Amino acid sequence: MPRPVSPLPRIRLFATGGTIAGAQTAGRGYRAAALSIEALVAAVPQLSSLAQLDIEQVAKLGSQDMTETVWRKLAARTQAALDDPAIAGAVITHGTDTMEETGYFLNLVVHSEKPIVLVGAMRPATAMSADGPMNLFNAVAVAATPAARARGVLIVANDEIHFAREVAKTNTTQLGTFHSGHRGLAGLVNAGRPHFYAPPVRRHTAASEFVLTPRTALPRVDIVFAHAGMDRALIDAAVAAGARGLVIAGVGDGNLGAPALAACAAAVKNGVAVVRSSRTGGGVVERNIEIDDNRLGFIAADELNPQKARVLLILALTRTGDPRALQEMFTT
Ligand code: SIN
Repeated sequence: MPRPVSPLPRIRLFATGGTIAGAQTAGRGYRAAALSIEALVAAVPQLSSLAQLDIEQVAKLGSQDMTETVWRKLAARTQAALDDPAIAGAVITHGTDTMEETGYFLNLVVHSEKPIVLVGAMRPATAMSADGPMNLFNAVAVAATPAARARGVLIVANDEIHFAREVAKTNTTQLGTFHSGHRGLAGLVNAGRPHFYAPPVRRHTAASEFVLTPRTALPRVDIVFAHAGMDRALIDAAVAAGARGLVIAGVGDGNLGAPALAACAAAVKNGVAVVRSSRTGGGVVERNIEIDDNRLGFIAADELNPQKARVLLILALTRTGDPRALQEMFTT
């Protein structure tokens, strides 16, 4: 007998580890990525009311160990899933520490209008009042609704829906760690009932210009954190280590002192792309305010924080090394 066709959407659920799959150890500690995706799904039987889930364990790590190799695998697996007409959307479980970077990477390289939702948790799965089960339930609900289409990669946590491009982790341990300071929330989700606000304005997913193939080499891009009394040593060390791009987490409006500035100017002359972002955690870094970007050949990060600027610069450098073309990518 043929199986009856389920009216529920089919969602591909990829797992990478993180605290959402964490298990407490003796004392105050816990081990991220201890539990399998099967165990996480079994803990939320209500998921079966939302979607048919196809599950796949892509990696099993704390997201501090996330690598470009795993990013590429996730991107390829997500693209393949969403190219399947039977699949309505994708959910990816992920540690919260670097979730914004993985989400933004996928936002730029996966070409699909179908929903892609990353989800994590701040408390391990075995902790008192773990937040993972509701976050997972909400993430699947968001991925299963057609209203989430064409919104780019989304991050669901703490009853909120964030755009991967806009969100940042802002607190070490608290549940409300994710903030989208500049452009606000993508929406809210109450016990599986999503409410969406305005769509994103910058290019993403189906409209992204970045195409990742197995042969695309991703260049080394380093982040250097600026501070009072900074010299040029770390900038020179990054260039010597082979960086093709540098993101400066500058003081204030993406500034840096004279010795570091001179090192960045020398790096540009040697073909290294230099992006000025800010260590402040908010605001726009504009061109040519205290630093003459036109003369020095620097790129302003616009509103991207240093870790997001690094993701974009890695991909942008696969297309061009021209500072003006790179700047255009940062503003679009
Ligand atoms: C991690 O990012 O893997 C650990 C922290 C978390 O998931 O909240």
